[in-house]
Amino acid sequence: MKVVLGCDHGGLNIKNAVIEYLKDNNFEFIDFGCYTEDSVDYPEYAYKVATAVRDNGDTLGILCCGTGIGISMAANKVKGVRAAVCTNDFMAEMTRRHNNSNIICMGGRIIDEATAVKLADIFLNTEFEGDRHIRRVDMITAIEEGTFKL
Ligand code: RB5
Repeated sequence: MKVVLGCDHGGLNIKNAVIEYLKDNNFEFIDFGCYTEDSVDYPEYAYKVATAVRDNGDTLGILCCGTGIGISMAANKVKGVRAAVCTNDFMAEMTRRHNNSNIICMGGRIIDEATAVKLADIFLNTEFEGDRHIRRVDMITAIEEGTFKL
């Protein structure tokens, strides 16, 4: 499994902490930036990571901004992406198990670096449960594709 990462200036500290974790654990990853604390626009990094997840198999994404919210909203506009803002262990686990999320979004102004590493670790090491959750994720896809019927 490959990992792709991106952040804005508000998420740089936690993204860098996660990158150290990825190196220590021999993950294959691509960091799409940003690389400094200069102010940048988070949709650019959301787009780079979200399209990499969309276009490559067996790839999970990690996006960080100040809150995790803006960057998740932008990422979720890319078809096939299910980006989830997570602030605790339970959310990171359940969004893989039940939502089959392919991107975790975190906020550098919300959680500390150790928490970001823990959530990334849980997210990357938890599998989708399948079963009844397949139907629900398929319904999300149908909404996205305009084919959803009540
Ligand atoms: C940038 O100041 C900030 O708006 C951004 O990092 C993020 O929190 C947006 O949701």
